Amino acid sequence: MKSILVTGGAGFIGSHTCLVLLENGLDIFVIDSFINSSQISIEKVCLVLKNVNVDVESKIHLIKGDIKVKSDIEKVFQISQKLNKKIEAVIHFAGLKSVSDSILEPISYWENNVLGTINLCRTMEKFDCKNLVFSSSATVYKAKSNRLLNENDLCEPINPYGHTKLTVERILHHLFNSKKSEWRIACLRYFNPVGAHESGYIGENPLGKIYNIYPQITRVAMGKQSEIKIFGSDWQTKDGTGVRDYIHVMDLAEGHLSALIYLTEEKPQFITINLGTGIGTSVLEFIRIFEKVNNVEVPFSFENRRIGDNASVVADNSLAKSILNWLPTRNIEDICKDGWNWQLKNPNGY
Ligand code: NAD
Ligand code: WQD
Repeated sequence: MKSILVTGGAGFIGSHTCLVLLENGLDIFVIDSFINSSQISIEKVCLVLKNVNVDVESKIHLIKGDIKVKSDIEKVFQISQKLNKKIEAVIHFAGLKSVSDSILEPISYWENNVLGTINLCRTMEKFDCKNLVFSSSATVYKAKSNRLLNENDLCEPINPYGHTKLTVERILHHLFNSKKSEWRIACLRYFNPVGAHESGYIGENPLGKIYNIYPQITRVAMGKQSEIKIFGSDWQTKDGTGVRDYIHVMDLAEGHLSALIYLTEEKPQFITINLGTGIGTSVLEFIRIFEKVNNVEVPFSFENRRIGDNASVVADNSLAKSILNWLPTRNIEDICKDGWNWQLKNPNGY
């Protein structure tokens, strides 16, 4: 395996994964429309690698394009052919990811996440590339607060975003069933990706309104927002606040490399794998740990529960650990330290 296409590679998880792929000697082609990112993240990835004397100039090819437009994806495969670097696998991050926006703009979400993926699969078939890692989400599950979620648990999304992710999983499963001897497909269900690369060069750079807890914690610590509004203090959890499985983005990025290696070494298959830590952290714990590790204050107040929230969403990650030869190695303290380092070095983002 030498050349990989990364759709949405300029985004949060994509940029960290590009870094891991390049560090491991792979050539990458990135297609991104920059609807939620900019090319600066890729320039920063190159900077991190140059600092450790890895030559990346000839190994990364960034192409601005939209996966909703099939010819844009075809162009990337054509460029790879001209360079005599056959794309052997795709990691597919490109997608819209806001639960709230998906309720306001459902058609954009279906068009981008589902039509975009259909275009990608058609193009992959055309260019005889049948290894695919897809970014799915724990949001597909019907949450069960009393225990860890495993891959066989019931899926029942409650918002348009989650439906688009589950629909793509099903399309990919049908595609695999139609040509079982050819496709290798892994759907990775991420839990709550947070943190940043330890260098502070790349991190999460949200554009538009921020809904997730972690970028808000760093904003409050920076004084850019007055406080965190904690949604609910009466959940059936250790301290009454919501519990989530926060996974360091670098552990997640490494999980993609492990999934690629696993897929290409094993027989053709369709597989769904949770990527989480298996450890639940409450909102209050998260805030307290962030304050302690970084010696900052993060004021908060309590609000009503947010519609659609659950008490606890934590991964059973035993499948990933057993088959991918992968283990998350960074803890919640590392998440707080690295995310804060990124925020301090990039107070206004990229
Ligand atoms: P992100 O928005 O930072 O990255 C997505 C990238 O895709 C962006 O660079 C964006 O510009 C690009 N993109 C979007 N639509 C495109 C299109 N039509 N054509 C080309 N490029 C396009 O998001 P992220 O947090 O890095 O998430 C990556 C993937 O993981 C997404 O598919 C998301 O749904 C999924 N995911 C994210 C989370 C999370 O909490 N961050 C959790 C579970 C799953
Ligand atoms: C985490 C905890 C909130 C904001 C979302 C998507 C999911 C996935 C990851 C893409 C919860 C609490 C939050 C705030 C708060 N993304 N909270 N005050 O909802 O677990 O998951 O992002 O696939 O699909 O749904 O993440 O960061 O919004 O919330 O108290 O201002 O923080 O109630 O307990 P969530 P989150």
